[in-house]
Amino acid sequence: MGAYQHITVDDSLGPVGAEVSGVDLSQPLSAQVVEELHQAWLAHHILFFHDQDLSPTAQAQFAANFGELDQYKFMQAVEENPYVIPIIKEADAKLNFGGGWHTDSSYQAIPPKATVLYAVEVPPEGGDTLFANATSAFAALSDGLKDSAVAWQGVFSPKLVHGSGGFYKSEEAEENLGNAYGGDDGYAESEVRHPIIRTHPETGAKSIYCGMAHTVNIDGWSREDSLPIFRHLTEHLTQDQFVTRFQWRQGSLAMWDNRCVFHYALNDYHGHRRHMHRVTIKGDKPI
Ligand code: SIN
Repeated sequence: MGAYQHITVDDSLGPVGAEVSGVDLSQPLSAQVVEELHQAWLAHHILFFHDQDLSPTAQAQFAANFGELDQYKFMQAVEENPYVIPIIKEADAKLNFGGGWHTDSSYQAIPPKATVLYAVEVPPEGGDTLFANATSAFAALSDGLKDSAVAWQGVFSPKLVHGSGGFYKSEEAEENLGNAYGGDDGYAESEVRHPIIRTHPETGAKSIYCGMAHTVNIDGWSREDSLPIFRHLTEHLTQDQFVTRFQWRQGSLAMWDNRCVFHYALNDYHGHRRHMHRVTIKGDKPI
């Protein structure tokens, strides 16, 4: 438990993240509560809440305490609020959204610093999300790999998942996910360069930032040469010692720091519906 005046913080769930209680997120929060939540978030990288009751607009208002809201290009927002996207897997769908290790929208020139995910409806069992601590994982690399990797820039792109040959462009995925982006402005094939190891702008800590879903290659390397590095870093990052498994209930909310956390939505609840609402908060250019 941490030394907070206005919130209760329990970090016993796993290697990353902490459960916060004593706050009703549907109400306006005082500056002191927001500051304590922010400090707890920087310390633990993810805040988990249970038993909340949030309309899309209340969720967006909560998220706006921590920065300007971002808009996700690859899905339609809910009708009530342009910043809230529905992530729904119907009972008869096979594929899910976010079912691979990634950090949200790392292919954007300015990727979102945070994601705020709220559980509207959850299956009776399964549908948990795994979260990996990319800061601890970086710290545990051998010194030689750390020294090399901090010098590498990566080419990041939505094309691996949202581009013409990407996972979310398959007929089955489009049918299952329902609301996939149909834009043809070239964005889905665009590329940006970010460090493979990024430095957190608020804490100064370094974290693994490349991943199999969004990083095409190390700048100046072929994809064939880059892939074994990405695979190795992903396998390293996703070892049990860095991973917390979060079990959602209806009304749970998680707010994670995309600058130092990877996540993976498990797809193990066939025959049941799962319905989440997601909001993202703008970040800075990774350095
Ligand atoms: C996501 O990858 O943003 C969704 C995670 C989840 O649905 O658990």
